[in-house]
Amino acid sequence: MTQRTLVLLKPDAVRRGLIGEIVGRIERKANWRITALELRTLDHETLEQHYGEHKGRPFYEPLMEFMASGPVVALVAEGERVIEGVRALAGPTDPIAAAPGSIRGDFGTITRENLIHASDSEESAERELKLFFPGLS
Ligand code: PPS
Repeated sequence: MTQRTLVLLKPDAVRRGLIGEIVGRIERKANWRITALELRTLDHETLEQHYGEHKGRPFYEPLMEFMASGPVVALVAEGERVIEGVRALAGPTDPIAAAPGSIRGDFGTITRENLIHASDSEESAERELKLFFPGLS
């Protein structure tokens, strides 16, 4: 099942020089490829649209502030079951609960600074890809 997903390498990943490490893990999976990739600083409007469903939750403001604190890498990954697959590579939201071998399990300790975002369903992927890469066909 070929799919497309939106991945963000969060400001902590960029600041810590982990772009190559994380992109490499995605690139090395069989039958996946990266079809768009861009370094950019996210404005408040884009972040509100991206995280709008979480507005009002206690982590919302810290998350918005953190995501605007520096550039992110936005990329499109395409391939076999890539939506579920990138989420599995990332590991769960809390890096301490993430298994060694996963991105969060290997590199993270703090939930806010959990290195990577990946779309969680086909519906989210479609919405997020339109928001971050409106030019994609
Ligand atoms: S839920 O309840 O499953 O929808 O929430 P979850 O997917 O775990 O989290 C939604 C996004 O909020 C981020 N998050 C946080 N950011 C900062 N601080 C705290 N404490 C925190 N808790 C959750 C989490 O990483 C999700 O963002 P993305 O970008 O999808 O990783």
